[in-house]
Amino acid sequence: TSTDNPAVRRLSDWPAEPLRDLADEFGTPLYALDLDRVKANTGRLRSAFPEADLSYAVKANTTRPVLETLANRGVGAECAAAGEVQRSLAAGFPPHRVRYTAVNPPARDLDYVCGLDDAGGMILTVGAMDTLNRVAERGFDGRLCVRINPGVGAGHHAKVSTGAEPKFGVPYDRAATVARRAADRGFELVGLHAHAGSGIAGDDLSDHRELVRRMGTLAADVEDRLDFVAVGGGFGVPYREDDPALDLDAVAAATREAYAEGWRGGANDTAPPQLAIEPGRYFVADAGVLLTTVNTVKPTPETTVVGVDAGMTTLVRPAMYGSYHAIRGLEPDTPRRELVPCDVSGPVCETADVLGRDRSLPDPARGDLLAVGNAGAYGYEMSSNYNSRPRPAVVAVEHGEPRLVARRETLADVTRFEAEAEDS
Ligand code: LLP
Repeated sequence: TSTDNPAVRRLSDWPAEPLRDLADEFGTPLYALDLDRVKANTGRLRSAFPEADLSYAVKANTTRPVLETLANRGVGAECAAAGEVQRSLAAGFPPHRVRYTAVNPPARDLDYVCGLDDAGGMILTVGAMDTLNRVAERGFDGRLCVRINPGVGAGHHAKVSTGAEPKFGVPYDRAATVARRAADRGFELVGLHAHAGSGIAGDDLSDHRELVRRMGTLAADVEDRLDFVAVGGGFGVPYREDDPALDLDAVAAATREAYAEGWRGGANDTAPPQLAIEPGRYFVADAGVLLTTVNTVKPTPETTVVGVDAGMTTLVRPAMYGSYHAIRGLEPDTPRRELVPCDVSGPVCETADVLGRDRSLPDPARGDLLAVGNAGAYGYEMSSNYNSRPRPAVVAVEHGEPRLVARRETLADVTRFEAEAEDS
């Protein structure tokens, strides 16, 4: 185990008995979130980046206790949609700590955000001249940030490498013009923003470094006094039991160095604007596990298929990105059981519905409880009702005390919106 390295919490580090108690009390499939781990992760980010403005990319996990925990600690909220802004304000993030990063924003999102009493206190990030115009039409007169497409992408999968995708941000070589235009139109331009992608690994910081360097140069190019330069999130966590932990201090040092280099490259001898970071995954991934029960054990010529009550509707990452999540048996007698090669699959009628292929589990039997690791980020958040399957329950644990955060959906919930449409 890795209990001697507090920067890593692997699935094997979770004590089994409290997880079995949670499954007994709340049933499965169940997302369990450890709020104390979220606090510890916050502390680690703070001490690695003491000079930076720290925000949380709330898309990773928007459950109320996670948002409250981070709001209480003075972390900011980076939001990708009106619903995330709504949740963040309701959970107690003060408006001036909320940034709405509008990516091709639907009209309803802009209407909501620009119509808020507190809109002027928030920071609105636009990634296209068109968005700037739409925001102006809605009378927004608050603080503005311009999102840049840095031209470098990074991440665990092409599907989450935002930096090089033209959809995101103003092209780098047009950025200074758009930033000046925003200032000319009377907006209070307070920041520049870019995000390379999700799942940066410690062994290759070159893309991250390049992004930060370019942002430093650009900041020096923009005449206005900026409050901050946001360089995104994307700090990776170890998903495999033997993946190395990300060395946050090394990432911070590389970030600092590249930023200073870019800023000086812009021929500027004043102090640069404050750096801002906005990780999502790093705060919450290893603070969550998904608990699931074995329903079917089927020996086949290829492997033993272990059918569980969680699937791609519960946790879509394996199906969507081919992501690896560690899976572990939680029964008290597992140390005495023989390991069996198996595939762990869900109840959904799709070949993609496999949570883990080519795994090895202690002789699985019907009724066994299993845990899926690193489920705190992009887990419940990305769950769906496909196959008309109710979404799971979520429980948060703080100082050893569990509380229900989201109740399990029922079959009635699955047809609720159609029933309401018929009644209206
Ligand atoms: N900032 C911006 C503008 C972002 O778009 C994202 C993530 C983040 C920050 C936070 O990235 P993080 O620190 O969590 O890596 N569903 C995918 C991840 C998609 C991330 C999209 N943007 C997954 O499950 O891996």
